[in-house]
Amino acid sequence: MALNFFKPIVFFLLLATATASDPDILTDFIVPNTSNSINGDFFTYTGLRDMWNSHYPPYFTVTKAGLKEFPALDGQSVSLSVLEFPEGSVNPPHIHPRSAELLFVVDGTLDVGFIDTTNKLYNQTLKLGDIFVFPTGLVHFQYNSYKVPATAISAFASVNAGTVSIPNTVFSTGIDDNILAKAFKTDAETVQKIKAGLGAKP
Ligand SMILES: *[C@@H]1O[C@H](CO)[C@@H](O)[C@H](O)[C@H]1NC(C)=O
Ligand SMILES: *[C@@H]1O[C@H](CO)[C@@H](O)[C@H](O)[C@H]1NC(C)=O
Repeated sequence: MALNFFKPIVFFLLLATATASDPDILTDFIVPNTSNSINGDFFTYTGLRDMWNSHYPPYFTVTKAGLKEFPALDGQSVSLSVLEFPEGSVNPPHIHPRSAELLFVVDGTLDVGFIDTTNKLYNQTLKLGDIFVFPTGLVHFQYNSYKVPATAISAFASVNAGTVSIPNTVFSTGIDDNILAKAFKTDAETVQKIKAGLGAKP
């Protein structure tokens, strides 16, 4: 995929701006006790190399570089994700319980928004090069309504910010249809339709 705006230094800017929220550590860094000796390779994550040369995926896709993928992040309170939005794709409303999200558009245009605890919507159309902050723990979304693909890099102030997807959390976890019907002031049939659409077992 084409990334005319991408520059490696951007990663460092994003990481440096993130404020720490994970527990502090008492050593410079944490090495897994399964490693005998480490060098620069331990602090290098190469798992995103190929994505810059490949085509946009057909669906909205998140590629993470967090603690699971990159063990050297342990104790450092930073991580990032690359978000790829083919034309018309959406990252459905979701929450990151353990971090704010600093989203930087490096390709295309994105409609984004979040809702605060008074149910006020704050939204924006982000152009190439724009940065938007989603405050910690608030429901937010991103949508590519444009005729070209979009890519964003998101930095987090946690090695494991966590994601709670609102549609899946509510409709794909076995909550009784009648409870959901009452909660959404609709009928069980409508709830079943939504569940089916999300690929949940009816
Ligand atoms: C590594 O540390 C874990 C947790 O402290 C411990 O359970 C495990 O036995 C250790 N493994 C080795 C190879 O020392
Ligand atoms: C924000 O959302 C409102 C309501 O959906 C919409 O009319 C408006 O165009 C959006 N603004 C931006 C900047 O995306």
